[in-house]
Amino acid sequence: MKVAVGADHAGFSLKQVLISQGLAGHEVVDVGTHGEGSTDYPVYAFKVASLVAAGEVDMGVLVCGTGIGMAMAASRVKGVRAAVCTSEYMARMARAHNDANVLCLGGRVLGPGQALEILRVFLSTGFEGGRHAARVRMIEEGRDG
Ligand code: RB5
Repeated sequence: MKVAVGADHAGFSLKQVLISQGLAGHEVVDVGTHGEGSTDYPVYAFKVASLVAAGEVDMGVLVCGTGIGMAMAASRVKGVRAAVCTSEYMARMARAHNDANVLCLGGRVLGPGQALEILRVFLSTGFEGGRHAARVRMIEEGRDG
């Protein structure tokens, strides 16, 4: 799988762990950041989201302090469904029910072991489709009925 990965300073060290351990065997596009210096999370959210929306990668992974800002920014890009996940259950549901294509993690919330498990589940779970596909279309089209 081709996966784009990005982080701000608060997610940098977890991003490095995810790339070296969780994404070994996958093709990784690392959009930065490349150090601990303070930086702005929307920069990386939009880089990863654009790659996902353009179909240049299969999935995106974003890490900031909480995952929240990354998810807010990435989900503004049409076709991107970014989900903050703090458990394996959330990761499974984000894929199976919401067809999430960007996983957002909190480097100040999760330990590396938890984050690696969440990533593993996210990448290995498929979308269930069916009634969930109709609901995802409602999101994409901004419809309430
Ligand atoms: C950076 O201090 C922090 O605000 C950022 O990493 C993120 O948690 C925002 O959602």
